[in-house]
Amino acid sequence: MRRMSSSTDSQSAQNARYAQDTQDVQDSRLSCTLGSLTLKNPLIAASGTYAFGEAYRSVLDPGIWGAITLKSVTPEPRPGNPGQRIRECHGGLLNSIGLANPGLDEFEKDIIPLLGDLDTVVIASLAGSVSSDYTKLAARLNQYAVINAYELNLSCPNVREGGLAFGADPTKIEALVGQVRHATSKPLLVKLTPNVTSIADTVRAAEAGGADAIVMCNTFLGMDIDLNTGRPVFENTYAGFSGPPVFPLALRCVHQTAAATKLPVIGMGGVSTLEDVQKMILAGASAVGLGTLNFTRPDAPVELCAGLDQWVANKGAANIQDLRSN
Ligand SMILES: Cc1cc2nc3c(=O)[nH]c(=O)nc-3n(C[C@H](O)[C@H](O)[C@H](O)COP(=O)(O)O)c2cc1C
Repeated sequence: MRRMSSSTDSQSAQNARYAQDTQDVQDSRLSCTLGSLTLKNPLIAASGTYAFGEAYRSVLDPGIWGAITLKSVTPEPRPGNPGQRIRECHGGLLNSIGLANPGLDEFEKDIIPLLGDLDTVVIASLAGSVSSDYTKLAARLNQYAVINAYELNLSCPNVREGGLAFGADPTKIEALVGQVRHATSKPLLVKLTPNVTSIADTVRAAEAGGADAIVMCNTFLGMDIDLNTGRPVFENTYAGFSGPPVFPLALRCVHQTAAATKLPVIGMGGVSTLEDVQKMILAGASAVGLGTLNFTRPDAPVELCAGLDQWVANKGAANIQDLRSN
């Protein structure tokens, strides 16, 4: 499959090419669909761990991925949080990046032109402090055919406003997703937090607002303390925990998500082995995100795709989606 495109291509040329690509992709036993999106395989690079797609090109052709999700972008540039931002901890990673990103103007000028020749589905991750930030981002980025879908980050634990302030409240989730739904016809993936009492309530709210798929989940709230100072390591006190130790927690969240909705689910959180990917699919995920793994094993998708293909063949299934539990 080739998805050669540039930001100056006409929408109809892009659509024709995408239709052909989609036909090619549907022939693969690893292909999967997320609403109107067709991916060549179910592996998705998770937002914030794959920069804007360009950084890893020298390591691995981004075309191996079913899709890549770009670093979350906000309307204005954000320097990110002060102090320490990353700490390895208990076999995983604590981060308090604070949505550092160049902002919408620079994203349009410097990043979008780099996306045209990525041979994969490109998902832009949108973030903000108020709901109008999300609608503004969606409306401005609608013109770029190189962006195939939006992921609404309603779940960042590392910013004081927005993020969890929206993502923990079903009423706000439904309203915000509904507003963005009216602002775009691109597929809308809604990324939710695991840091709530009822996963089902937030999932149903995103669905009611018009989401096309649910992304479960962002990082788990954690913390660390510096024994020399007796104070929290991170200036925001709490930080997002990711990587292998969170896998059983994320698997539970994905299972609860799949039980609460008929929408496709993108499962992520701690996935680091073929078995983890298989378990996410068996729990109900249509696609699986890899995040922290990109920092240690950026070439992992190659081996994982081969393993998944073998798994489908061994099971005698026509397509990997036939192995999903629901
Ligand atoms: C350093 C770092 C930065 C992240 N930045 C973002 C981000 O900008 N937007 C977002 O939606 N998720 C972000 N995440 C969360 C990941 O996309 C993913 O949901 C989470 O890390 C769980 O998956 P994992 O355990 O495979 O890493 C970030 C995670 C890490 C480790």
